[in-house]
Amino acid sequence: MTIKNSSPLSYKKGKLHFDNIPLASIAQRVKTPFYLYSEKTLLDNYGLFLDSALEANIEKPLICFALKANPNLKLLKSLARAGAGADIVSQGELKRALDAGIKASKIVFSGVGKTGEEIKKGLKAGIYSFNVESIEELELINSEARKLKKKARVAFRLNPKVHAKTHKHISTGFKTHKFGLLKEDILKSLKKKSLWSDTDLVGLSMHIGSQLTCLKATKKAIKELGSLALEVNRPLEFLDVGGGLGVDYGPEEEKRFSTPKQYMEIISSELVSSFYKKYSFDQKPRIVFEPGRVIAARAGAFITSVVRTKKSEDCHFAIVDGGMNDFVRASLYGAYHDILTEKKAGKKTIKTDIVGPICETADCFGTARSLPSLKAGDLISVSDVGAYGFSMASHYNMRNLPKEVVISLKGKLS
Ligand code: LLP
Repeated sequence: MTIKNSSPLSYKKGKLHFDNIPLASIAQRVKTPFYLYSEKTLLDNYGLFLDSALEANIEKPLICFALKANPNLKLLKSLARAGAGADIVSQGELKRALDAGIKASKIVFSGVGKTGEEIKKGLKAGIYSFNVESIEELELINSEARKLKKKARVAFRLNPKVHAKTHKHISTGFKTHKFGLLKEDILKSLKKKSLWSDTDLVGLSMHIGSQLTCLKATKKAIKELGSLALEVNRPLEFLDVGGGLGVDYGPEEEKRFSTPKQYMEIISSELVSSFYKKYSFDQKPRIVFEPGRVIAARAGAFITSVVRTKKSEDCHFAIVDGGMNDFVRASLYGAYHDILTEKKAGKKTIKTDIVGPICETADCFGTARSLPSLKAGDLISVSDVGAYGFSMASHYNMRNLPKEVVISLKGKLS
């Protein structure tokens, strides 16, 4: 049970702590299952991402946190105070971002299915950009803008036709994926005047997938984005390189994940050192980022407790009070997350499956984990769930949504 660098979790005298507070004392105040977040870890990761960009000579980066990773209001308020913008994909996320105090001028609206109503809301709020994913969407934005007598700010999302190496459910940058537009279709649309009566092309964007550990496809896609910007041949305010940088969840990723520093160096070499030199307009487009996971994943743990244990021949199960409805990544993507318990005297561990109460075999947080012998009431922490954790929770099996608790910078629970 080793704990990763920069995790809010730690052991002190064998007792599990989160942000230096004993987990047992938190669980006395909050009934399991619940999500526990560290504002400090969140802000540290945001700061690391921002500083890595600045150190790579990326000037005035705009970091639009992808709300789908974690729309918790308290955490978003904290990011807003730190200067973050937002990447949103629905009117619900638009409202949440604005409620958190994120400025509309720092909000980019992605997604293939924006409705007329959502576009209207974005226009009224005065968002930074609609990242357009089809010509049909552009037509709708243009007509909604005309009705509201506003100019819509749009950026095309390029589909760069690359194979991002990640789980197939979250790879988004190839032509068979529903996302973005092919280069030739973008260039063609620029000649169609009727599309541009009430819209301004202010940028270009991309997003090729999530949990990217190898950055080969990212490099290729960024090069494509730069070359498209040159072919577009008009002043652009920004290039949005999307999100996607992965985190080291476990033994597999640990060997090959890329750091924010390595990621920024690739972006800088493609855009600052190369593209900026060829770009003929005075004002160089600023670089926009849409990270979600790399900012939020480490900041959260899912805390659940053992309801009972069970044994079938040599198979040991710990049945916990949290289920796949609360945290679905392990079931949906076969994702690995560290599982921690209090340390117990004696060194003997048992290979245990940590399973939930839901009526599906996939309702499992981890199989054959070497853990001390568990009993009812023992606390279990599933690590690195601050991204795509609560935001993907459901009421499956008519269960309540899990609670969320934030440990503030001052160490207060709320
Ligand atoms: N921008 C766009 C347009 C996106 O679609 C996404 C994520 C992001 C930014 C943020 O990507 P990130 O930096 O977090 O990788 N539920 C899956 C992940 C789905 C990602 C969807 N789009 C998971 O739990 O792994």
